[in-house]
Amino acid sequence: MINTISTQANKLVNLTNRKHRVSPSKTKLLTITSGKGGVGKSTFTANIAYLFAKAGLKVGVIDADIGLANMQVLFDVKPTLTMFDYIDGKSDLEDVFIKTQYPNITLIAGKSGYQYSKHSNSLVLARIVQDIIDIEKFDIVLVDTGAGLNEYVKEFLTISSNILALTTTDPSALTDVYALMKMLSKDKNSLMLCFNHTKNYKIGETITNSLQNLALKNRLNCDFMIKYLGNVSSSKNISTTGRLRKLFVNEFENQTVTKELEFIVSSLLQNLNK
Ligand SMILES: Nc1ncnc2c1ncn2[C@@H]1O[C@H](COP(=O)(O)OP(=O)(O)O)[C@@H](O)[C@H]1O
Ligand SMILES: [Mg+2]
Repeated sequence: MINTISTQANKLVNLTNRKHRVSPSKTKLLTITSGKGGVGKSTFTANIAYLFAKAGLKVGVIDADIGLANMQVLFDVKPTLTMFDYIDGKSDLEDVFIKTQYPNITLIAGKSGYQYSKHSNSLVLARIVQDIIDIEKFDIVLVDTGAGLNEYVKEFLTISSNILALTTTDPSALTDVYALMKMLSKDKNSLMLCFNHTKNYKIGETITNSLQNLALKNRLNCDFMIKYLGNVSSSKNISTTGRLRKLFVNEFENQTVTKELEFIVSSLLQNLNK
């Protein structure tokens, strides 16, 4: 028992030390989350991955949704190994890197229904992300977390200095965003926010201001800022391209949604921390 506790304590110390090392990794980490499921997180992540790669960055995408790991569908690959093979010690890190058909995009696949409790409190998930960052193979690593604020998702949020919440204007989705803000404000200074299924840029901005005011009124950490990055309209072509295992921004270069996503990616490039 004491052994187990000291092993876990060592893991935590190692991870903390690596986080605060003197020279920061060249790899930036962006964690994409949402309180509510089905808001379009995976679709958003896959499409911005494409735009980051198009801007010349080497991109790693980690499918960390154990509820519905569907990144392999969006990138049209059939992974034989997932990140859990590495976590379980069955393969080397580079073996779980899956090349996609898109230049400079590598997928680290997940698996639906993984029994997280098996590893809870041992920070193994945070560690695979840290290991991927440490090898400096990518310029940016995107993590698509599952929905909800469970311990599994929290593990990814803890180690990320760039967190983006995708939401809709639906009241229940906004309630979930506020719960996320409350949690993050305890030890983070900012949250980036994007609105999906939202035609009007201004609406997202107005709601962001209301959320920020609510945070002030409720006396969340006064340094905690929400940065609004932009909106993404609805388009039936998004679900169609998803079903066809293609990426919208590649198929429809000149459509509004692609322009909106390009705007978000350029704001991200300006806002990302080390
Ligand atoms: N802006 C949008 N317009 C139309 N359909 C969308 C849009 N964003 C996502 N979708 C569709 O919504 C569904 C859920 O998206 P998905 O990315 O799987 O959500 P999540 O990862 O949050 O559960 C998919 O069928 C997807 O094609
Ligand atoms: Mg998803």
